Amino acid sequence: GAPVELNITDIPPGELRTVEWRGKPVWVLHRTPEQLATLSEDTADLADPDSTRPGYTPEFARNEYRSRKPEYFVAVGICTHLGCSPTPHLSTAGGPGLPPGWEGGFFCPCHGSAFDLAGRVFKNVPAPDNLEVPPYTFTADGSTVIIG
Ligand code: FES
Repeated sequence: GAPVELNITDIPPGELRTVEWRGKPVWVLHRTPEQLATLSEDTADLADPDSTRPGYTPEFARNEYRSRKPEYFVAVGICTHLGCSPTPHLSTAGGPGLPPGWEGGFFCPCHGSAFDLAGRVFKNVPAPDNLEVPPYTFTADGSTVIIG
């Protein structure tokens, strides 16, 4: 399939856009400093905090943010369990029905898998792996992400 482009200059901090790439939803989240701060806090509850497992994290995203630029998170919005689409919960304050200590992320309603704001999967949920980061680059002026 052809690469997909998205202008990111009009995504306000804290908001997420979804584009379709190869028939899959791809999220582009403009993370706020508060959202980024949650990523470096206690990672003991995460199954693969450093994204060392093969298959879901390209080399360029093997960092705390799982991204090329900390403020932009790009991921395939499909659960690594059985393929449902997790629901974004972007408030770092958590919410009713979400895991204790939750600081925002993505929650799969199908069987209750939770991911943080870098798509890192929590321990003791059905999903076996972190959300997939697709191949992508930014244009030189930083205005556009090119997925694929
Ligand atoms: Fe997401 Fe099962 S498909 S938890």
